[in-house]
Amino acid sequence: MKKMVIKSTDKSSVVRCNTSVKANIDRLLILLSDGEFYSGEYLAKELGVTRTAIWKLIKKLKSWQLNIYSVRGRGYKIPGGIELLDGSRLREDLKLRSSHFNRIDILTSIDSTADYLSREWQLNRGKGIVCVAEHQTAGRGRKGRGWTSPFAANLYFSIGVSLPLGMTALGGFSLAIGMSLAKILNKMTAQKIKLKWPNDLVFEGKKLAGILVEASGDSNDSSFLNIGVGLNWDMHQNQGGVIDQPWVNLKDLLAVEMTRNQVLVNLLSGVDEAIERYLTKGFKGFYAEWKALSALILQPVSIHLAHSVVSGVEVGIEESGAIQIKTASGIETFHSGEVSLRKNSDLDG
Ligand code: BTN
Repeated sequence: MKKMVIKSTDKSSVVRCNTSVKANIDRLLILLSDGEFYSGEYLAKELGVTRTAIWKLIKKLKSWQLNIYSVRGRGYKIPGGIELLDGSRLREDLKLRSSHFNRIDILTSIDSTADYLSREWQLNRGKGIVCVAEHQTAGRGRKGRGWTSPFAANLYFSIGVSLPLGMTALGGFSLAIGMSLAKILNKMTAQKIKLKWPNDLVFEGKKLAGILVEASGDSNDSSFLNIGVGLNWDMHQNQGGVIDQPWVNLKDLLAVEMTRNQVLVNLLSGVDEAIERYLTKGFKGFYAEWKALSALILQPVSIHLAHSVVSGVEVGIEESGAIQIKTASGIETFHSGEVSLRKNSDLDG
């Protein structure tokens, strides 16, 4: 396997260890990424550190849920190797294709790409930033849940953009992003992916990816959007074991062979296009495609509100992004927020 260079920023918040440890982790990862065995002695020599230091770095990587074999007398190996994120290629590929991203930060490990972007936004307002991480220590999902983020097993990225739209115009934004991602993933998988309102990308009821959009701004003419996407790529059972719902990996669904880096470029440029389309047309530019993309259209569902449950059949979507449910008392509409939609046989939403 070709060795790839992992580029990362030098920000001290990125990995909770000092700069030289961080640099050593990155160098160790490049060496181990080909899936071959390397002795502790060889690695120590290459990095100019002691074998104990190598052992400590390996321990750190294992704590990030990277599967590494340690075999006495042979050394260390990542079974099957790993494809690291390739920052320079990503920047090169996106330069020609994106209009909203001015900066792409590739991080080895971070608390959450969403939190990183919020912090960066405080320092550098007005610029579109993309942040992609190999690992998150405190990845966040919707409704206060965590997001399992084992090292290099999946894709975790956040996009921060400032748009000349007030909060009132953003009702369907997150749904528009979900629909765009579903369409891109469908090109890669020969139409296998559906969107479960509001933000779950699924294959046959199993979760493939989740989207978390956080918006802040004023009600009329400006907003900051923090668009977070987590997509399962090639997660092992032992890494995703704590996830409390069925899930699936994109690698197992691909109709054509693609690398994790190629998938990432396609997803990022898809989000870029979706932002542009939303700016010119709003959710009107998307909503006609809902029926073809919805996982639960015309199926019996329940809407779970804070203190009650409404049952009915999902019949469509409004131009505002609200879901339409046909109930015994007629068609009722619901906005996302803290509401969750469940297929009537589901245990979880
Ligand atoms: C969901 O609950 O379905 C949404 C999950 C969103 C996870 C992504 S991973 C990248 C970004 N950083 C986070 O902490 N969360 C989002």
